[in-house]
Amino acid sequence: MTSKPILLDTVRPAPEQPLIRPGVDRASIGTLVRKFYFGVRSDERLGPIFAREITGDWEPHLEKMTDFWCSVILKSGDYHGRPVPAHLKLKGVTEADFEIWLALFRETASELFAPEIAVVFVERAERIATSLKLAMFFRLGSSTVALSE
Ligand code: HEM
Repeated sequence: MTSKPILLDTVRPAPEQPLIRPGVDRASIGTLVRKFYFGVRSDERLGPIFAREITGDWEPHLEKMTDFWCSVILKSGDYHGRPVPAHLKLKGVTEADFEIWLALFRETASELFAPEIAVVFVERAERIATSLKLAMFFRLGSSTVALSE
């Protein structure tokens, strides 16, 4: 039996594709962002965390988050920020807060989009939330993991 060389392309996950559907555009994504952060601001756990960080006009944050979601969903390239450092500096955020964030996001996405579209927003939000949580809450310390042998 001859062994085949492993081509990188066979092991690399396929890049995420833009979601091209009627009604999924910057306008509807902007509506989702605004509705979602209205809910966030009214939430008893998340509201105070955001209120500590955004003390003045919410408009720049809402525009930035619209850029972010247009990049995530439409692959528009509008967002150029760095989410991990922005979250690492937050004080008092717990893993349970991410469940609240995601529940609110699921609710808002399914109010505004058909189920097959909402599920794409939610899956991408869950994946990014997992990366943020890994960066915020898990540290590989030398005492916990031995990589040698
Ligand atoms: C408990 C969960 C979370 C909390 C408390 C939280 C809180 C915050 C706060 C306070 C900011 C800074 C706002 C500002 O100064 O503009 C921020 C920025 C941001 N958040 Fe979150 N966040 C959470 C989860 C998420 C998730 C799950 C995502 C993505 C799916 C996300 C995406 C972003 C992005 C893209 C920014 C802008 C970063 C930048 O470029 O400055 N966040 N978040």
